[in-house]
Amino acid sequence: MLISKILKTGLITLLGFIPLSSSAVETDSLLIRAYTTNLNNNRSGLSFAYSTDGKQWIPVADHFSFLRSDYGPHGLGKRMLDPQVFYGTDEQWYCLFNVDEQAKVQGITSSADLVLWKPQDYFPVGEMQERIKKISFTSSKEANTFKVPRSVLNKLINHAQLTVYRNGLYSEQMKDDAVRFAALKPFNTRLKIDFAQTKKISQEFIGIFFEDINYAADGGLYAELVQNRDFEYSPKDNGKWNSLTAWDIAEKVQLSTAHPVHVNNPNYVIVEKGGRLVNSGFDGIRLSAGDWYNLSLFGRTRAKLKVRLIDGEGNSVGGTSLNINSREWKKYEVVIRADKTVANAKLEIVAETAPVELDMISLFPQKTFKGRKNGLRSDLAQLIADIKPRFVRFPGGCVAHGNGLHNIYHWKHSIGPLESRKPDRNIWGYHQTKGLGFFEYFLFCEDIGATPLPVLAAGVPCQNSAAHGHTLAGQQGGIPMDEMESYIQDILDLIEYANGDARTTEWGRKRAASGHPQPFNLRYLGIGNEDLISEVFKERFTMIVDAVRKKYPEIQIIGTSGPFYEGSDYEFGWQLASELKLDAVDEHYYVPPGWMIHNQDFYDRYDRSKPKVYLGEYAAHLPGRPSNIETALAEALHLCNLERNADMVTMTSYAPLLAKEGRTQWRPDLIYFNNTELKPTVNYEVQKMFGNNSGDEYIVSEMELPAGQRDANLRIAKSVVRDTRSGDIIVKLANLLPVDITVNLSGIDSDKVSAVEKILLQGAPEDKNARALNYRIEGGMDQVVVPKYAFTILRFKSKP
Ligand code: AHR
Repeated sequence: MLISKILKTGLITLLGFIPLSSSAVETDSLLIRAYTTNLNNNRSGLSFAYSTDGKQWIPVADHFSFLRSDYGPHGLGKRMLDPQVFYGTDEQWYCLFNVDEQAKVQGITSSADLVLWKPQDYFPVGEMQERIKKISFTSSKEANTFKVPRSVLNKLINHAQLTVYRNGLYSEQMKDDAVRFAALKPFNTRLKIDFAQTKKISQEFIGIFFEDINYAADGGLYAELVQNRDFEYSPKDNGKWNSLTAWDIAEKVQLSTAHPVHVNNPNYVIVEKGGRLVNSGFDGIRLSAGDWYNLSLFGRTRAKLKVRLIDGEGNSVGGTSLNINSREWKKYEVVIRADKTVANAKLEIVAETAPVELDMISLFPQKTFKGRKNGLRSDLAQLIADIKPRFVRFPGGCVAHGNGLHNIYHWKHSIGPLESRKPDRNIWGYHQTKGLGFFEYFLFCEDIGATPLPVLAAGVPCQNSAAHGHTLAGQQGGIPMDEMESYIQDILDLIEYANGDARTTEWGRKRAASGHPQPFNLRYLGIGNEDLISEVFKERFTMIVDAVRKKYPEIQIIGTSGPFYEGSDYEFGWQLASELKLDAVDEHYYVPPGWMIHNQDFYDRYDRSKPKVYLGEYAAHLPGRPSNIETALAEALHLCNLERNADMVTMTSYAPLLAKEGRTQWRPDLIYFNNTELKPTVNYEVQKMFGNNSGDEYIVSEMELPAGQRDANLRIAKSVVRDTRSGDIIVKLANLLPVDITVNLSGIDSDKVSAVEKILLQGAPEDKNARALNYRIEGGMDQVVVPKYAFTILRFKSKP
């Protein structure tokens, strides 16, 4: 239904021409008109024009968009059609709009000033009519046109101009440094450290955010070598896959669902005598000569199987045979030694005798991280562990709240025997076996000495979900209210699963049955992931928070504040978190380096009485999305500023963590890899430098910087902390300038220092391969040269 029709149905109280009470004293008024340009397939959002005579209309800031639709997925959605703006007797502006031509769903939002709009809500058109009946509107003679005080227009213009100006600053890049800093010469400065001014800072400052994106889990960190081991790939994963995907050869093989191993795992194969199955793994199976591999499968009936590992030419590089002899499904396990190192081997299974039913055909290296069964790829896990992350957020961002209601990640589907886990499509366009599930995530945390931070959906799916053919099944429908109790119980059960007694609690027993009677010491729970702070969200989020607090008051709850560092979800996410007195808020922003340069004091302004900040996702993004010295140094600079505020910004994690080459949906990422190589980025070096050199006490310091050189000063950051356990003083210096800086450090008493460990990351802005270099200087150090475009850490080792 067209919105104008709704209006004609008598839903509004006509109070005449714009009696804006807040502005009643202002006589100096003019006309503004809300409109959309309909550009970019109706994604241009809401603009304003103004007029002093009602005839000549001037667009504000060249059709600047003050409001965009947030409905539906990026690419296809986010469309705003027929926007209608009204002014309420509550002195709020309302904008009602259609989200597509079908006009079955409408969006609504409101604003006190036309600049900051509340998070949008979406309702089927009938429900929307009922809702707006309850709002009392004033009206203008002409649709979307209002007489307003000049101050309203001035605010619009100021906001648009400021945004354009700031975006200009944020787009500053090092490629222009030769011009920007043409007159800048290398300079000397002094780091004045005030040892009398200290504050406690978080010991969990650097962590990691693991999301199953870019094949981070299956085919990545999860060491399983067989792809589609359970024959559960399906077209719903990405429209292309089916039960035999990655099974390159399936001769004399039939698919069946008649007597499955488990109800969650319906598909299996029946292989006839002489039948053959060949699996090509995830872009090939990686074998190392002399290493042992565990092959397991579920089989039924009687048969002799010949199992071989074959190289690219089809030659056997290891094998064994296996007798299946059971009427019911039974797990069979054998080991195979690889005779040769092969990057792209395949697994072949031939049924030499009678027909046989097979499922869950799995191949794991015995050398997993810490030797765990069903474990992790050891080199990749070690590279992550080398960061020394103090916490791990899992199982993802968008993956956690899923693409539509039926794709929300349910942790219970990811624990227990592998054959009973419930696979699902991955929001990033592939498949999740859930073989790497919550049990394995908790174990990984334990193995690397990190605190677990699971994040669960707040009863709503990802705001960028498609509608999947239903009006609101994707965004922004929530779990139906009559199912919320059970959903909340699942959340409470997770806490019991992690911490409950191994004998007396149901979920603690399940944990113990998986081989871990000791609790996992869960302290944090993330609820929601950069969600739209809609009414649907708020209602469910609050229910979850109340229930967790009631049963587990000791658990710290981390809320969410949208995907930006400002704007409606940020403002209203923070408002909700403050009202509910949450423990922390998970902020996300992917920003140009210029944002980090020009927002060095972003957190210095934060109110310390409010919830703590967990910066759960961030990265510096340049056009083309490279991982290079320019972005790495911007992140180092930002981390120095965050560390200064680590009394309140208690946790941080770069995002995303992992990406498999050729299987990447998002760039940049911290670590790239393929089956045989690891390719940590320069940005990884920064995370590792911070992770290995965190302290627990911040020491106030000052640096004299060249007078009148604001642009230069903004490109230098420093942070001084102490590790009170060792007594070491750690100085971090980020130099984003094209000149060397010599820093006097004589304030640090050399007599108390046994040696200085120096780590230096340096390179040209576009350098993608620089590595941090380590040096050791015996005794103290009075000054250091921080080269151009470099980040250095000096660890002043305390004398025993
Ligand atoms: O880090 C990649 C994605 O970015 C996360 O899934 C989501 O939370 C954010 O939009």
